[in-house]
Amino acid sequence: MEQRFVKTHFVEMNLSDILEQLGEDETKSILSSFACPLNEDVEFFIKHRAIEFSKRTTAKTHLVFWQTEDAKDIELVGYYTIASKVIKVSKDALTGGEAKRLKNQGVYDDVKHEFTVSAPLIGQLGKNFTNGNDTLISGSDLLTLAINKVKKIQREIGGRFVYLECEDNEKLLAFYKNSGFKVFGKRTLDGDETGIRGKYLIQLFAML
Ligand SMILES: CC(C)(COP(=O)(O)OP(=O)(O)OC[C@H]1O[C@@H](n2cnc3c(N)ncnc32)[C@H](O)[C@@H]1OP(=O)(O)O)[C@@H](O)C(=O)NCCC(=O)NCCS
Repeated sequence: MEQRFVKTHFVEMNLSDILEQLGEDETKSILSSFACPLNEDVEFFIKHRAIEFSKRTTAKTHLVFWQTEDAKDIELVGYYTIASKVIKVSKDALTGGEAKRLKNQGVYDDVKHEFTVSAPLIGQLGKNFTNGNDTLISGSDLLTLAINKVKKIQREIGGRFVYLECEDNEKLLAFYKNSGFKVFGKRTLDGDETGIRGKYLIQLFAML
């Protein structure tokens, strides 16, 4: 029997562009199909916060679609959100080389032994588990797309440091550590941060 291999690739779209092109109702209807049973916060954000955050420029969301070469099949497979933040990093969490690199990008407090650095936060990242769409992309492919976006931004404006925050979960931590991220701290949750398991988030960084 003849086997046909259909070529596919990922297409990324900034939620702000989708909103501009399709309007809010149609955009909401695309987002409503997103499901992420492993992480309530990731599903809640894309359905109820992402549009507002994109409009206010608080954080920008990028949708990732899997598409066949002929564009006949297109599926929403995941998303990530990036925000511009200022973060404090203890010198103790860094190697000598990392501290040297951060010194060029941030301000060092000699008393507290910490750097204050402006850095992109990968605030959300998740695969879409609706209709098995999560099998069309791997977590590392999705994270690579987010990292490449950060690299592109930093090539224009400078910086090498990127960070993210995740629940204290062995599998999530292994996922990020395998992709080159390193733990540098813990952040206690704010009262309005619901849908997250635990009382704090683990903070991880990478030097790109
Ligand atoms: C994190 C993610 C992108 C990794 O994708 P991946 O590398 O392709 O790996 P998988 O989806 O197969 O998940 C790997 C394992 O981690 C577990 N896992 C993933 N997210 C988890 C979460 N939020 N809480 C607990 N376990 C989780 C999976 O159940 C799986 O466990 P198993 O090995 O026992 O089957 C993807 O699992 C995902 O979208 N998770 C939900 C959203 C999320 O938690 N994002 C991180 C926010 S910080």
